[in-house]
Amino acid sequence: MSEGFGIGLLGFGTVGSAFAELIEARAPEVEAITGLRPSLTGVLTRSRGDFDEILEASDLVVEVMGGLDPARDYVLRAMAGGRHVVTANKQLLSQHGEELWAAAREHGVQLRFEAAVAGVVPVIRVLQESLAAAHVDRLHGIVNGTTNFILSRMAETGASYEDALAEAQELGYAEADPAEDVNGKDAAAKMAILARLAFNTPVHLDQVACEGIEHLTADDMEYARDLGLGLKLIGTAERVDGGLSVRVHPAFLYGGHPLASVSGPFNAVTIESQAITEITLSGPGAGGPQTASAVLGDVISAMIPPASTPPATDRLEIVTDVASAFYLHLEVADRPGVLAQVAQLLGLQGASIRSVVQKGLGENARLVMVTHPILESRFYAALELIGALDFMRARPRAIRVIDEEFV
Ligand SMILES: NC(=O)c1ccc[n+]([C@@H]2O[C@H](COP(=O)([O-])OP(=O)(O)OC[C@H]3O[C@@H](n4cnc5c(N)ncnc54)[C@H](OP(=O)(O)O)[C@@H]3O)[C@@H](O)[C@H]2O)c1
Repeated sequence: MSEGFGIGLLGFGTVGSAFAELIEARAPEVEAITGLRPSLTGVLTRSRGDFDEILEASDLVVEVMGGLDPARDYVLRAMAGGRHVVTANKQLLSQHGEELWAAAREHGVQLRFEAAVAGVVPVIRVLQESLAAAHVDRLHGIVNGTTNFILSRMAETGASYEDALAEAQELGYAEADPAEDVNGKDAAAKMAILARLAFNTPVHLDQVACEGIEHLTADDMEYARDLGLGLKLIGTAERVDGGLSVRVHPAFLYGGHPLASVSGPFNAVTIESQAITEITLSGPGAGGPQTASAVLGDVISAMIPPASTPPATDRLEIVTDVASAFYLHLEVADRPGVLAQVAQLLGLQGASIRSVVQKGLGENARLVMVTHPILESRFYAALELIGALDFMRARPRAIRVIDEEFV
């Protein structure tokens, strides 16, 4: 029988309650990965639980209370007691990060905080591990889902700022008091943490210049659209003249920018460095279950030695014949019935044509078409027969088409 691993939970709100559910549901998987069976040792809210008792029974503490005090005191006491800590608290880290990271080093424990920035998007892990030695030049982020939702709605529907905010509140994307989101302060706290990690220099929340979205109008969005520009609340951290600039403000983006297509309550971070050119990570930026999932990822990381790869727990069959849409380029002699014969051979294998264009005439005639998805084996069976038709002037060329719509 494997050993137990006690987790003390500080806070039982949106994230805390989702984490409690998740850890119970996923305990068998966590045990398979780590060899330790996780369980909650206790929950602390203002009306429930005793911190010292919870700490005594725990190997790790999850802090999802928010705020500076008493969260700072609890996190420091947990680490001084030799416990790992996982927190989602960007306010705490952007204002007391250096003190807390120093305490973690001093006591030889882990302080993990993936959920504090960009929800479930694993940007902290990438900066701390994958890009630990990369010389980052610049980082751009859409790190507040509420404001991104509001700006997306204004752009899509022509809604006023006030109406888009009301919609965000109705849908649960904005708090009843949205001040910290719309004035840019929430994004500023996250940028302070990202800048600290990307540039390896202390950055305090107070050093992040910040402008919100409250003054933006539907007109701004309309003009931007006409110019092919999208308006986003962008966090920037970049090397400037040997120093570092960290700021949050609304900014226009051209359609080709990796952050331009990030719509709705989503987050994304673009990291630029000469060595890697550019990496963009994106995904849900908040929400109880999503944030709890990031917290659980950190808990598992704290439970296992960093370099281990856990044994595979599933035995999934490897599928080799998959369905795909195809682009098909045929060089053909220009004569009647060519398209009908090609369509018939495809049809016999169950493939239908989604779109087709004929290009050129006579000896230069080409048929270019895109099929609906079909099992690859069946498509290639049809292709072999098509290649043998007497009007073909060259081998057919086929390229897969990814046509899924992400919803
Ligand atoms: N919600 C999200 O989607 C999200 C996403 C990323 C990060 N986060 C971060 O996660 C943390 C928690 O957010 P949340 O949305 O779950 O907050 P929440 O719903 O307001 O819950 C906060 C919890 O902490 C407890 N708490 C607050 N002050 C306390 C105190 N002094 N002593 C003991 N318990 C106290 C509250 O208990 P009582 O009120 O019952 O006493 C409540 O259970 C914050 O740092 C937040 O920034 C949240």
